[in-house]
Amino acid sequence: MKINTKAVHVGDRKPQGPNVAVPVTTPIYTASSYAYESLETTDKVFAGEVDGYAYARYDNPTNHALDELCAALENGHGALTCGSGMSALEMAIKTALIDRRKKVVAANALYGATINLLLKVLEPFGVETTFVDICDTEKVAAAIAEEQPGAVLMETVSNPLLRVGAIDKIAALTRQANAALIVDNTFTTPALVRPLELGANLVVHSLTKYLAGHGDVMGGLIVSDEQHFNALRTLSKTYGPILGPFEAYLTMRGIKTFPLRMERQCANAIAVAKFLRAHSHVDRVYFTDDPAHPDAATIARLFPQGQYGAMISFDLKGGRDEAFAFMNRLKLVVKATSLGDVHSMMLYPPISSHRDLSPKQRERMGIKDSLVRLSVGIEAVEDICADLDQALRG
Ligand SMILES: Cc1ncc(COP(=O)(O)O)c(C=O)c1O
Repeated sequence: MKINTKAVHVGDRKPQGPNVAVPVTTPIYTASSYAYESLETTDKVFAGEVDGYAYARYDNPTNHALDELCAALENGHGALTCGSGMSALEMAIKTALIDRRKKVVAANALYGATINLLLKVLEPFGVETTFVDICDTEKVAAAIAEEQPGAVLMETVSNPLLRVGAIDKIAALTRQANAALIVDNTFTTPALVRPLELGANLVVHSLTKYLAGHGDVMGGLIVSDEQHFNALRTLSKTYGPILGPFEAYLTMRGIKTFPLRMERQCANAIAVAKFLRAHSHVDRVYFTDDPAHPDAATIARLFPQGQYGAMISFDLKGGRDEAFAFMNRLKLVVKATSLGDVHSMMLYPPISSHRDLSPKQRERMGIKDSLVRLSVGIEAVEDICADLDQALRG
């Protein structure tokens, strides 16, 4: 089944028994616990001997439908949706390390809060991290050989400079070392890249972004291979970071149009990147369609032809003051911290996604004060470019 078909069918419309009406969309189940006629059945449900729901921290029908859908989108064995992308990342790392060495080799260009998760949350609990240039596969191989990590962590497309590591090659290295590969696939979505098919073990998303897509959900997702699924579920049943049923419903509703939205957003982004490259007030454009992109060969291998995602970063002529003035002049593009919504959005990394990093750390990552990050929406592309143009010209 193609992803557009999965998006509108998987998880919904479960048979309810003979002559019982089937709701066309999965309802919101708010019950915190579930009762059965006989205690024998309750016992079997708790034991996992028969399918059923017992307690909402473990599972409920709304979340279950969404989990099934998400697992199908990423071609995984199973999925768990939770309260935020960050809690999904924490769950994935803990799942990977539960029976492995408490050591992570991580990409040196990651979402700022993910770096904080590694250094400020997990390190005090004994998980050490070594950062490596994930786009240099030889360096990754050397780091894996030296550190013997339990897990390797990377983003499909790095934030905000849009570098792309060779997931397939890194997955082979990780497997040889008996480590788990965790890939944050938020920026590309399963419409473009499916890391489990390339050998990754756990895929993470901020559902808040493209999958939900309408700026009204905070959520996270882990899709797991068969090997890690039990550990993931056991951890989740115990410490309960699961997504609320209202958010699960909204996310499922959003996902139905996500492949369509991605098509439009990807097409718009190619046009916006072209417009920005030709603009006299723009110094440099970072976008994955660039034949001169440092990871062009990996992009050509991993991405579908003609679709490069819908995130663009660019350096303005000037620095922080010019970036603030430019963004303050935007009228259509929303100045807010997120990405992947139907509306175009822009953020300034030093005050938002990468705020907690020191200026030195940002400089080391190549994030200049002149850099802004644009998430291209589904609007008419002429309107997006017109707004950028008037704000650039001042
Ligand atoms: C690539 C990436 N991963 C994870 C997250 C965290 O997601 P959330 O904000 O839903 O916790 C974000 C948030 O911006 C992100 O950009």
